[in-house]
Amino acid sequence: MAKVAEQAGQVPYSRIRALAEEAMKMEGVVKLYFGESNLPTPDFIKQAACRALDEGYTFYTSNAGLPGLRQDLAAYYGRLHGVELDPGSEIVITASGVQALNMAIRLAIDPGDQAILLTPAWPNATATVLLDSGTPHEIPLRLRSGRYRVDFEALEEAVTPRTRLLVYTSPSNPLGWVATEEEQDRILDFGRRHDLWVLADEVYDRIFYRAPEAGIPAPSILRKASRDDAVMVAQSFSKTYCMTGWRLGWIVARRDAAEKAAQLNEFIVSHAASFTQRAAQAALAHGEGGIREMLVRLKENRDFCLRALSEIRGVSVPSPDGAFYLFPKIDGLKDSFEFCLRLLRETKVGIAPGSAFGANGEGSVRICYAAERPILEAGMERISRFLTSSWGG
Ligand SMILES: Cc1ncc(COP(=O)(O)O)c(C=O)c1O
Repeated sequence: MAKVAEQAGQVPYSRIRALAEEAMKMEGVVKLYFGESNLPTPDFIKQAACRALDEGYTFYTSNAGLPGLRQDLAAYYGRLHGVELDPGSEIVITASGVQALNMAIRLAIDPGDQAILLTPAWPNATATVLLDSGTPHEIPLRLRSGRYRVDFEALEEAVTPRTRLLVYTSPSNPLGWVATEEEQDRILDFGRRHDLWVLADEVYDRIFYRAPEAGIPAPSILRKASRDDAVMVAQSFSKTYCMTGWRLGWIVARRDAAEKAAQLNEFIVSHAASFTQRAAQAALAHGEGGIREMLVRLKENRDFCLRALSEIRGVSVPSPDGAFYLFPKIDGLKDSFEFCLRLLRETKVGIAPGSAFGANGEGSVRICYAAERPILEAGMERISRFLTSSWGG
């Protein structure tokens, strides 16, 4: 009998998804497990998609994406980061951030190569390394004096002759950690010294609370890197513009890698949907006000949840600088999946187990606070009651 390929079997089931599937069998669950805002896509973006359909954006387009969208993205980087990009050769549109990560990892490693990943992290990059027959090596970010930090000594120790890639996510899902300028410099230096690709997942760059003014993005690694550096950035319209279901993202990469990405797109998705790319142009042109409003709301949610958690004995949680998650550590927690299952069954609150996020994730849970306040109030109240009574706290 024909078997499913062994490499596919190596990829573990997402534990976020496993928990969500349990939750979906139940009615009335407070859903804080997935990483998405429950706000719908803004109307002006939806209308732009409808117009694009009417205007005939229903045909195949180029593998790298609509030239107009790539030009708009180049202008966006110029405006927000002071970075000059060539839209024709350094930007490729992808059918989601997931596909951007997939493509970037495929461009960096051959079978048997090693990739270093800073964790706890959203599990897809590790899974993609496995899917590409690579070996993931997870290096935990270390919590010191209330802030997560890159452990550069551990990075140096992890490098082998087969190491080809370093992946990190800033702002981080699930930690909310944002790489400092010094950390970015050292990451670049590390990549250069060891001839590695550096892949920065920057899909949460617009959800950044430490900015001098709301709406200023977390600084991209592209500000530090030259266009000749072996650097790739994976990006997405999902989080910034509430477009998770649209499946649209992009890659910025050194010219040779970007050109290869466009060519490989032909054999993977050909290109992202044409009319959604037109809608993305509208998002870039008119989305800034909406981003600022979303940030105000998210910051209030973050502070509300932080306050609620800080009142529970045995729970510690650093204040995140970006993204929309809290990753509280719970004293004595050994099996976060079991904890989340019990919480779900006994209180109908769905959150994600820390073990889903790789090395150093166990012992914590992830709460997504991109929800309406009444939902968060119910969630926090029930989590608090569960931790102080049923869980034996
Ligand atoms: C860190 C990170 N990167 C990438 C993605 C992918 O986003 P999408 O595929 O919706 O564009 C997500 C989604 O949750 C994420 O959390």
